[in-house]
Amino acid sequence: MRGYLKKRRLHPSIFELIFSFPKTIWFNFKVLPFKSAIKLPFFVSCYAKIKGVSKKNFICSLDKPKFGICRIGISGSETGLLIKKTSLLYIHNGGTIHIMGPISISRGAYIEANKGTIVFGQNTKMNTGCYIEAETANIEIGNNCSFGWNCVVKNCDGHHIISDGKIKLNNGDIKIGNHCWICSESSILKNTNLPDNSILAYKSILTKTETDKTGCLYAGVPAKVIKENVNWEV
Ligand SMILES: CC(C)(COP(=O)(O)OP(=O)(O)OC[C@H]1O[C@@H](n2cnc3c(N)ncnc32)[C@H](O)[C@@H]1OP(=O)(O)O)[C@@H](O)C(=O)NCCC(=O)NCCS
Repeated sequence: MRGYLKKRRLHPSIFELIFSFPKTIWFNFKVLPFKSAIKLPFFVSCYAKIKGVSKKNFICSLDKPKFGICRIGISGSETGLLIKKTSLLYIHNGGTIHIMGPISISRGAYIEANKGTIVFGQNTKMNTGCYIEAETANIEIGNNCSFGWNCVVKNCDGHHIISDGKIKLNNGDIKIGNHCWICSESSILKNTNLPDNSILAYKSILTKTETDKTGCLYAGVPAKVIKENVNWEV
């Protein structure tokens, strides 16, 4: 799978690559112990904004740290050219981010852990413009997942709904299993569980846990299981 990440075409200009080195060095030493940081496993775009990140709240489990195996705010598909270059990695209010192995988060991404935890499984890749926000509750993304462009994973509604005079809980955990394909422009909202090998079709919105069965194709708004016993490959 690492070979697969390596095969991904980089789209940054020479300018971006060169000017990303200072931020890359700064970031690695900010989040990793010296022995790992010196190998620069995180390659961070000069266009990426990093806020509130420290060794305490950005926890990495990289077995073999090697140069550039984790990319933040860099590369992506051609569609990325239509999306702004800037990305944001923001941790605050006691939020945490766990990185379980090599990952690729493309340009235009917005990753925010606000009181909640986000876990990125190894070899997970996110295309341009993905928006991941954990507020109060947690988001767990398994290994080998693939996100198309402009996907949203958001476990909090932001505002409160008052139903029959009672304030509804506006957040809840999200769990995305291993080897899930979240097609472009899809969204995953609070209190959902997408089992291993699932596919969420283009522009679908998952609003509740549909089934515990693995290998299902979900589609529509709200997303429903439309096919069972499916799988996918790159
Ligand atoms: C997930 C996907 C690959 C499934 O393809 P598929 O297995 O060939 O599915 P089909 O075209 O046979 O469709 C099966 C059924 O689901 C429906 N369906 C497919 N995609 C849908 C969608 N996004 N929303 C709602 N319904 C959808 C079809 O209308 C069809 O319905 P029917 O059985 O009533 O005729 C495809 O739907 C998709 O989302 N493609 C876009 C992938 C993408 O975003 N790529 C960007 C890079 S990651």
